[in-house]
Amino acid sequence: MELLFFLKEILHYLKPFWKKFLLALFFAILSSLLTGFSTWAIKPIFNYVFMEKHYEYFKFIPIFIITVFTLIGGFSLLQAYLMKSVSTGMVNFIRLDLFKKCLSIPVSYLTHYGEGQTISRVINDTAQIEPILGDNFQTFFKETLTVITLLGVAFYQKWDLTLVALSTMPIIVFGSKVLGVKTRKARRLAQSATGELTQKMNELTRGIKEIKISGSYEKLSDLFLKELNRFYRWSLKITKYREGSKSLVDVMTGFGGALVIGYGGYLIIKNELTPGAFLSILTAILLIFNPLRKLARSYTGLKEVQGAWTRIQEIFELPEEKGGILKAFSPSKGFLFKNVSFRYSPNLPLALKKINLFLPANKVIALVGPSGAGKTTLVSLLPRFYDPQEGEIYLDGHSLKEFDILSLRNLFGIVLQEPFLFNLSIWDNLIMVKPEATKEEVIEACRLAMAYEFIEKLPQGYETILGEEGFSLSGGQKQRLALARVFLKKPPVIILDEATSQIDSLTEVAIHQALDQLRGKHTIIIIAHRLSTVKKADKIILLDKGRVVAEGTHEELLIKSPFYKNLYQSFHKD
Ligand SMILES: Nc1ncnc2c1ncn2[C@@H]1O[C@H](COP(=O)(O)OP(=O)(O)O)[C@@H](O)[C@H]1O
Ligand SMILES: [Mg+2]
Repeated sequence: MELLFFLKEILHYLKPFWKKFLLALFFAILSSLLTGFSTWAIKPIFNYVFMEKHYEYFKFIPIFIITVFTLIGGFSLLQAYLMKSVSTGMVNFIRLDLFKKCLSIPVSYLTHYGEGQTISRVINDTAQIEPILGDNFQTFFKETLTVITLLGVAFYQKWDLTLVALSTMPIIVFGSKVLGVKTRKARRLAQSATGELTQKMNELTRGIKEIKISGSYEKLSDLFLKELNRFYRWSLKITKYREGSKSLVDVMTGFGGALVIGYGGYLIIKNELTPGAFLSILTAILLIFNPLRKLARSYTGLKEVQGAWTRIQEIFELPEEKGGILKAFSPSKGFLFKNVSFRYSPNLPLALKKINLFLPANKVIALVGPSGAGKTTLVSLLPRFYDPQEGEIYLDGHSLKEFDILSLRNLFGIVLQEPFLFNLSIWDNLIMVKPEATKEEVIEACRLAMAYEFIEKLPQGYETILGEEGFSLSGGQKQRLALARVFLKKPPVIILDEATSQIDSLTEVAIHQALDQLRGKHTIIIIAHRLSTVKKADKIILLDKGRVVAEGTHEELLIKSPFYKNLYQSFHKD
């Protein structure tokens, strides 16, 4: 039942390739019919040429054999090539779907899964499926057809002898089934070990400096070795089961051959079988076992794909972000938080506690507070990177959940402390947010973000590919590029989360002056590291331990909040 369901899922991916698939099937049929024909022809040829002594036709036999086998070879090649192109195409579609799926999974699920595991699933599980699916497609249909035609020939020649020869068949079927189940489990476990390995490799590259400083080489190597051993064990098991099913068929071929020769010889002696028919059946039976072997292998292969597929399926079954149908619009009133509480996962403490807050539209709002207070968390709720477990957030009176999620997110421009840039040219990284931008607009945005000068100084300028040949930008340069994106897109809501933390204070001042041009027309939310930069904000919100502890203008807060005053003075010293 489960298998049927799995086949149905796989068949869905076959649809776009059905023409090629049918053509491949056609060549598979031709090749197996020819195989059947060649074994059938043994009887009349042998009996006519040798038994009835028409030796003058003898010279045609080699020509006949060469022609038939050349044709079989040609048709096999065509079908294998076409089937491979079908299966590779299918795997590509599966990959694309997985990639798209990952894009629409809520952030929290992706991080909970452990990044390595998720990424490894997309890369490894589909890569695993590819050759297995390819091999199976190449062999399964052709060999099934071949077995059927050969069986047909053998039964037609002498059915009882054929039955005797096939008496070993149940052992093969049963054996393959048992091995298939084992293979499937082994494949799933091998895949999960591969996932762990990918995750460890990721940690190694990302945390290389910390690892070198801490000198924890041995401990890390031990952990890595443990996963390697796990992978090693399960991979070997897979080979054992896979080869085991082939060997089972080999042994049974011996039994089958022995039975045909024994019983067939007896029939010839009793004159109930012509030598031609005997040869024909013997050939058919011996020929059957080779495709059977491949089919048995293909069955364990199918189980392997099923094992990998179960894991892929788990990703497909993850929930997707759901929005409403309302197209988002530029805020005219603002964002309202009503009793909002949020935690990152059920066993973690609340990161935000009963937040009641109004962020007025088209004003400059500053979020301040010690690190870990919940500032980043609070702004991540606006574009719905996460949804609060309790309470509700409204934009101009509509719950955020009513909005179409893409249009909601399109309202925002966000600069984070560690901006992410793609492995593309500076130009492509910039116009990502506004593909129709002109050269002048891009340059203007870069000027405002104080990124113009350093880009102009690069030998390749805007065409510089980030991350190529070891080229890398400094933290401050990355922040300036991310700011340039915001100046280019000029989104209705701008969120700057410690966006200038790695930029010197002179440049920072210049950027804030540029931001002032957007004042009054855009909602600007600033999380600032230096409190001097937020003094001019229309509204300052002070957060601590996930709560709003005070709000007001700079002057108001200096008077009513000693906490704010302290914070301000301590920052002011440096
Ligand atoms: N992705 C995350 N998963 C789990 N906990 C997190 C995550 N990000 C932040 N936190 C926790 O939430 C709390 C608030 O963090 P954050 O909003 O980043 O603070 P701030 O930006 O004010 O420094 C902290 O206790 C932090 O440990
Ligand atoms: Mg933060």
